[in-house]
Amino acid sequence: MMRPIEVIVVGMGARAMIYAKESLTHPDMFCVVGVVDVNMDRVRAAKKLFQIPDHHCFHSVEELVSVPKFADAVINGTMDPLHVETTVPLLEHGYDVLLEKPFAVNQSEADTLLQCANETGRIVMVCHVLRYAPFYREIQKVLRSGVIGKVINIQMNEQVSYFHESVSYVRGKYASPEICGSGMLLSKCSHDLDIIAWLMSGNLPASVSSVGSVIQFHPGMAPEGAGTHCMVDCPVESDCIYSAKRLYIENPQRWANNIWHDSGIEDPTKEEKEKLLSDVGNPFSRCVYRCNLKIVDHQSVLIQFADGATGTFSMNGGASASGRNIHITGTKGEIIGTFEEECFTVHEIAPDSPGGRISRTVDVSEAQKGNAHGNGDQAIVQDFIAVLRGEQPSPCCTTLNDSMVGHKIVFLAEASRESGGKLLKYEACREK
Ligand SMILES: NC(=O)c1ccc[n+]([C@@H]2O[C@H](COP(=O)([O-])OP(=O)(O)OC[C@H]3O[C@@H](n4cnc5c(N)ncnc54)[C@H](O)[C@@H]3O)[C@@H](O)[C@H]2O)c1
Repeated sequence: MMRPIEVIVVGMGARAMIYAKESLTHPDMFCVVGVVDVNMDRVRAAKKLFQIPDHHCFHSVEELVSVPKFADAVINGTMDPLHVETTVPLLEHGYDVLLEKPFAVNQSEADTLLQCANETGRIVMVCHVLRYAPFYREIQKVLRSGVIGKVINIQMNEQVSYFHESVSYVRGKYASPEICGSGMLLSKCSHDLDIIAWLMSGNLPASVSSVGSVIQFHPGMAPEGAGTHCMVDCPVESDCIYSAKRLYIENPQRWANNIWHDSGIEDPTKEEKEKLLSDVGNPFSRCVYRCNLKIVDHQSVLIQFADGATGTFSMNGGASASGRNIHITGTKGEIIGTFEEECFTVHEIAPDSPGGRISRTVDVSEAQKGNAHGNGDQAIVQDFIAVLRGEQPSPCCTTLNDSMVGHKIVFLAEASRESGGKLLKYEACREK
């Protein structure tokens, strides 16, 4: 029997903990033998949970690479702008890395990482966990089977619910390019553009253009008489759909965990929550219309592929509910589905049938079971371990080279949006 793969976690935050905990349910597959985090509490918690010895607990990657390599691989769950900076020394020290997405925040960083991976011969797999969700895996299988013919257009959109939008992309860390290093298209939708690139693989983009803006979260849209902080000075708080009190205290299941997680208070009482949200220094206490938003709240991307097929993607922040929709039109049929409904329909053109087409629904609910990422978080770790063991990777495998296309589309889309929607050639990206 093969021994478990030994893994060190760098950046033991919310995401890395999900992957690391898989070792507790699959101890035969891998074990966590080291941790690196600038936050002492997170190091202590990981040390206890995974029984990591003191001499394998570190507070920086520099410290980790100053000792001889003692594990097979690293899971890197640091925040976006640290991904390249922390992964390069790990690769150079001989570690293979499972790296959170986005793997880089601009093209020059992406090129640096790819070059380092090539030179060191190390593996970098990117956490594009949605590829592993049965919904997209099954769509990919249907496409590959050829039943809908050659793709003419792939259309996807991502609706970001008003509560997720406000907590993460207006008040939270992803609203701040200083913290997350990029705009919303990369931090939220790099998954979606990766899915488009993956489903179209073998057919590279030829050009990209994009438009987007802040349509909603600016002072001009604030309700009349609104204050600056919901629980401090706002007379219209109780009528506002973005009231921090209504969203985070009265309906705590709507992403409020992100707030308490960042506050450092585990499981705060109602009084502690009220105190936190009455503090004008707390970003989550702010009026959503007065956050001086530096990123867009909606954006559309148009891709032309080398063979003339088109891809269209829209991200709409502030929707009534979260949702990812897909509609692929081929020369012989269509695939239409919504991720959250856990099923999609395949329509095949059939002139002799009564409706002119034959339709069937592919149900993936049994496999996804309502999981936000369709259990992709678990599946990607298993694939990473399989790759390290030299086994056949799954068709979803997110190697760095393969993940580059989706990221390049995002970088070009952002450059296009900043230039008012200019059409940019795909190759132009590499020279930037
Ligand atoms: N794959 C997905 O679907 C998905 C979903 C959400 C977030 N993400 C990505 O996952 C990453 C982590 O997000 P998160 O929500 O877990 O963040 P987090 O803030 O909970 O975790 C980041 C951790 O990194 C630590 N850290 C900071 N600087 C460090 C350094 N120099 N060295 C080592 N550790 C350091 C922090 O203390 C923290 O524990 C981000 O890149 C995010 O964009 C991916």
